[in-house]
Amino acid sequence: MSEEFIITGQVLSFTASPFECDIPTEAVQLHEAVLIRDGSVVDLGTRAAMQALAPAATLRDHGGDLVLAGFVDAHVHYPQTAMIASWGKRLIDWLNSYTFPEEMKFGDRAYADDIAGRYLDLTLAHGTTTVCSFCTIHPESVDAFFTAAQARGQRVVAGKTCMDRNAPDGLRDTAQTAYDQSETLIDRWHGIDRLEYAITPRFSPTSTPEQLEAMGALWRAHPTCLMQTHLSEQTDEIDWVKSLFPNARDYLDTYEMFGLLGARGIYGHAIHLEERERHRLREFGAALVHCPTSNTFIGSGLFDMDGLMAEGQRIGLATDTGGGSSFSMLRTMAAAYEIGQLRGRPLHAAELLWLATQGSAQALRMEEKIGNIAPGMEADLVVINLASTPAIAQRSAQAQDLWETAFATIMMGDDRAVSQVYVAGRAI
Ligand code: GUN
Ligand code: ZN
Repeated sequence: MSEEFIITGQVLSFTASPFECDIPTEAVQLHEAVLIRDGSVVDLGTRAAMQALAPAATLRDHGGDLVLAGFVDAHVHYPQTAMIASWGKRLIDWLNSYTFPEEMKFGDRAYADDIAGRYLDLTLAHGTTTVCSFCTIHPESVDAFFTAAQARGQRVVAGKTCMDRNAPDGLRDTAQTAYDQSETLIDRWHGIDRLEYAITPRFSPTSTPEQLEAMGALWRAHPTCLMQTHLSEQTDEIDWVKSLFPNARDYLDTYEMFGLLGARGIYGHAIHLEERERHRLREFGAALVHCPTSNTFIGSGLFDMDGLMAEGQRIGLATDTGGGSSFSMLRTMAAAYEIGQLRGRPLHAAELLWLATQGSAQALRMEEKIGNIAPGMEADLVVINLASTPAIAQRSAQAQDLWETAFATIMMGDDRAVSQVYVAGRAI
């Protein structure tokens, strides 16, 4: 017997990218209801039409709430959950002072299990159904994360973070152990249920050329894996990269020359890009991930959303927990809006919602499965209360249309706005 139900509310479905329409709202259709069967979306339309299609289906009425595809957070570090919001450092000092000492703890499987579960529960409560996470150098940290995600039925991406230099004792592997341990984890987890593996060199300063070479070879041997890393986050980081790799044409080249540039590559931050880097990223169809709360929190810079979108880059949105200061994709959309304003390009609510769902799904090459509500897609959904606090309610009360209402929640909302989450059709 198949499980069927109909969700009603203001069901938002994208028909195109709002960045590619003259008017962003032309990319969106609103429906009264969506029919779910066995964890997937069957169809959208009026409540009556869905009931005619499935007369026996249970009804789950969400009133005037906004029903969206679950948020997709395209770049996070789940092991940084317990040290989020650590004060006052810039990137390299922040890594050495706060991040590496915390990541050291993940050799302990029980600790890794605790944080992995805590992280996934926190992010689900914020409406995020898919994340793409860095783990730590320890294979246990990857096992813990995939085990916790599998138990929750979630589609996630993760990988062992590889580092063989410029990291403390106890937090370094080698080119060979990085290859071997990553490959064992790929064999164990990649493609199991909804889990996907990302080959994960942390960033070029913490890998020797030999390790980057090994990661490139691993990717060639496992081309269906994603590959995630960091790129051009802070200017002093870029100077350091250039001094470590004197033969590289630019930061991206430190990946490119080792076979670490590709269509399934995901490059976090990508703020201070040179012309050649932009050209090559677009040529390969690689994904850039905008991490706005992190970029302001660590003081990294202002991502060029408008210029990069206009040249046809593939762009996702992410919290970058715990360099980012929030677990919330609503807060992350607000920060993206603020950075857009500082660059003279106010993003429309439809564009922000698209980035947090379909844009990030495209970055992870999962746009056929998640990140939108459309027939055949997996039913990962978030239901948003558009009047979740007194401050938001009084603003929504005088909004002229859905976009004004949604924008108030994007700017001021948090986990209190999330009234329900569905993972593969299952209410959480
Ligand atoms: N660059 C290398 N590692 C990290 C990290 O953990 N967080 C951020 N924001 N940038 C990085
Ligand atoms: Zn990161």
